[in-house]
Amino acid sequence: MVKNSKKHSLRLAIATCGGDCPGLNAAISALVRQAANQGYETFGIKDGMNGFFEGSETLLPLTLETVHGIQNIGGTILGTSNKGNPFRDEKGKKQALAQVQKTWRKLGIDGMIAIGGDGSHYMMKELVQVGINIVGIPKTIDNDLGGSEISIGWSTAVDTATAAAMALKTSAEAHSRTMILEVMGRDSGHIALSAGIAAEADCILLPEIEFDMTKVIKHFQKKVSGGRTAYLVVVAEGAVPSGMDKMFKTSVSGALVLGGIGQHIASTLHEQTGVDARTTVLGHIQRGGSPNASDKILASRFATYALDLVTANDFGQIVGVKNGKLYHFPYSKLKAARYKIPLNSDLIHTAESIGICLGR
Ligand code: F6P
Repeated sequence: MVKNSKKHSLRLAIATCGGDCPGLNAAISALVRQAANQGYETFGIKDGMNGFFEGSETLLPLTLETVHGIQNIGGTILGTSNKGNPFRDEKGKKQALAQVQKTWRKLGIDGMIAIGGDGSHYMMKELVQVGINIVGIPKTIDNDLGGSEISIGWSTAVDTATAAAMALKTSAEAHSRTMILEVMGRDSGHIALSAGIAAEADCILLPEIEFDMTKVIKHFQKKVSGGRTAYLVVVAEGAVPSGMDKMFKTSVSGALVLGGIGQHIASTLHEQTGVDARTTVLGHIQRGGSPNASDKILASRFATYALDLVTANDFGQIVGVKNGKLYHFPYSKLKAARYKIPLNSDLIHTAESIGICLGR
């Protein structure tokens, strides 16, 4: 809990940065409603930090009317962007920092609340270092931001992935098929592990545990010989088969994006056992749609804590969850390492204890 200092009027900017996720609008709504209670003015920055970096200098006034009812809607009313890093090289960084400082002064902003994932918060860290007043809020369906056990968007993504896995399971059973569900998460398996357990998958493959395909095949064969005809694998997009590298595909715009591991598993299972295996890549469905109750509540808690930090004039901090409790840590402590599932996690133990194969 942050101690409130004396109230004074403030002009606050709010930005949603990086890939979208369910719960961004709920966070914006809670921030604006609490700020209104405090007598602060709130403004939205369009499309992530692009408004500041490109110097378009447009702020969208955010009022109680603007945010009415948005907490239930997916996406973000402010827009966002996860492309283009102005800090890529020293020259770009110098220009971007100068542009933000100029725009900041011109607009007379006292502080900004940045809702973002790891890439966005590393950019914010640079801005904090040049004296921009920022409080950060974690959001990412991947749940991989270092410093917080949970981020906005992850819980809804798990619900979505669980529903997809359960649907695949009934179809697999009807057709005596093997189904592979490839889910997002980059180098962290938080979505895959939770959704896989919730949907009673037979096998869950995670970036945290290099998997041995011969172990997966053995597990599959044991199930089949025990009378099971359907088999469900939930695999994280960043999972790595032993002796191989992470799998990527090229997007239509030429970007290298994670993907292909689901199809690789289906082909290998078919080649080795003759089984009919089908792959579903869940993709951006996991990022869209309405937030669930947990994400709306987390968004409101983070927003309240962040606004309390603002009121206490305690900028340069990121809000997070540690040992199940809200806390904050300085941007200077933001670690480059992404949050992965600890190998001694009780969820990993749970999965293996209930007979789910993790490929080892
Ligand atoms: O970080 C969230 C995430 O959804 C990852 O899980 C995924 O790999 C990536 O973003 C995809 O991003 P985009 O398709 O927007 O480039």
